[in-house]
Amino acid sequence: MNIKQLLTEKTQTAFVALGLPADTNAAVTVSTRPEFGDYQINGAMAAAKLMKTNPRQLAEQLVQQLALEGIAEKTEIAGPGFINVTLDKAWLAAQLQQAAADSRLGVSTNTAPQTVVVDYSAPNLAKEMHVGHLRSTIIGDAVVRTMEFWGDKVIRQNHMGDWGTQFGMLIAHLEDKLAAGIDLESVALADLEDFYREAKKRFDDEAGFADKSRDYVVKLQSGDAHCQKLWQLFIDTSVKHSEEVYEKLNVTLSHADIKPESAYNSMLQGIVDDLKQRQLAVEDQGALVVFLQELADKEGNPSPFIVQKTGGGFLYSTTDLAACQYRSHDLNADRIVIFTDARQALHFKQVELVARKAGYLRDATTYDHCPFGTMMGEDGKPFKTRTGGTVKLAELLEEAVVRAKAVVQDKASDLSEDEIAEVARKVGIGAVKFADLSKNRTSDYIFSWDAMLSFEGATAPYLQYAYTRVRSILRRAEIADGFSAELVIAQEQEKQLAVKLLRFEEAIQQVMKDAQPNLLCNYLYELASLYMAFYEACPILKDGVEPAQRDSRLMLSIFTSKLLKQGLDLLGIEVMERM
Ligand code: ARG
Repeated sequence: MNIKQLLTEKTQTAFVALGLPADTNAAVTVSTRPEFGDYQINGAMAAAKLMKTNPRQLAEQLVQQLALEGIAEKTEIAGPGFINVTLDKAWLAAQLQQAAADSRLGVSTNTAPQTVVVDYSAPNLAKEMHVGHLRSTIIGDAVVRTMEFWGDKVIRQNHMGDWGTQFGMLIAHLEDKLAAGIDLESVALADLEDFYREAKKRFDDEAGFADKSRDYVVKLQSGDAHCQKLWQLFIDTSVKHSEEVYEKLNVTLSHADIKPESAYNSMLQGIVDDLKQRQLAVEDQGALVVFLQELADKEGNPSPFIVQKTGGGFLYSTTDLAACQYRSHDLNADRIVIFTDARQALHFKQVELVARKAGYLRDATTYDHCPFGTMMGEDGKPFKTRTGGTVKLAELLEEAVVRAKAVVQDKASDLSEDEIAEVARKVGIGAVKFADLSKNRTSDYIFSWDAMLSFEGATAPYLQYAYTRVRSILRRAEIADGFSAELVIAQEQEKQLAVKLLRFEEAIQQVMKDAQPNLLCNYLYELASLYMAFYEACPILKDGVEPAQRDSRLMLSIFTSKLLKQGLDLLGIEVMERM
């Protein structure tokens, strides 16, 4: 059920009847104020311009043509030609009745499933996952969950950074550790940050170590067995660290989704040769460069995109071109979606331009780089540890659970120790995720423990608590599984809630289109708030409530609980029965 789409189609049919083209923009929006009804059709103004007639007159003709009998209770013209639509309560009840019996909660069937490649998380394996990878991981995961629920074929690609020049230094250092008989997992690589720092110090200070490191990169990349073996040991440990974080974060990335930079190694020479042959790449001071006039600066200097370094080394950029070829041609992607921080925006513009020119991206493949802003500390500077170091994700998540436990313990009166631990885990992890997901993706945001763990406002604890409240009402009602009753929408708060419940599909469509889970966060927050208002105004289990009314309100409650659970699940956030 997508009311917005239904009204759009009805309006377009009316436009055609009035002699306008079928694709005239109906401009249907959700009304901003109750006195404007539930939806507004705003397309009459632009259409009147097109027809050179009076917009109000056209709006009147449009209303005559709109076949909304039985759907709208009232259709009013306001201002220069806005059409305010107030939906019919019986129609809403009938729609909701259907949605309530449906396992997709009224979300219609996807009749044109797409193959979408989603590139997210993608940590660099030289170091441990830090907060910089949090956003990519959880925003990406919410988007893939939503696409899968809608019915698209999603191919996750974890483009891990395992192939840069740092690996020479890391494996040279590892070689010495192993030679000294140091245990790999519990000592040498127990802390990748420490390990990296030690290796870097030797690289900077120790005679001969830097040369050896450089030598090892070349050997590694040309397939030397000894270097490959050391590298694999390092990578395996680092991947394991990341997977522990995924597990804690309740993220759906699996081992099979890892397609790291090194996986493209064998394609890179071919890509570079091809770019040369097409005369897209030219030699410039020993390097191979594609000059992009499309991205020229103010002085008209083209933007340089280096695909091979002086000395023959390949780069991050070369790998991304190979990834385009693989995803568009081999995986047959209709759409490629990539989540990284905003500083990589130019890189991905360059990749797309070059890949299109060279045919690595088919015309039928859309390429969406989805940038996000930086996570800031409460001091307004990029989020760091107290001593100014990078915050390890694993430690941040542990702290979240500890802090959530303190909050939960305050509230929970009759939960066992084990239950409290479980609730604290769900609340702590949920809070970190919701705080991030609910912000506009492209802006920087301030990481605040107090704000995210609050039971007021748009937070995970608020929504999880709302869910437990609905569930407790349903428990008290002692209704059987599969309970069903006739829905009647009479009171204003029932209607507001009903309209919201029928907007789930609109919310998830927006999330997929713009890769912005914050729209679903808003939706769920508004839904929970409307339920609270409904519960205040419309008694359910009180004495004197008619059985039919009670049952209808229980139906609304059941549907709300299912929707909250499903919606939070799309965000990767767990719910609980009590807290
Ligand atoms: N490893 C990169 C980073 O940490 C992100 C990779 C994103 N994906 C890609 N195809 N380049 O910034």
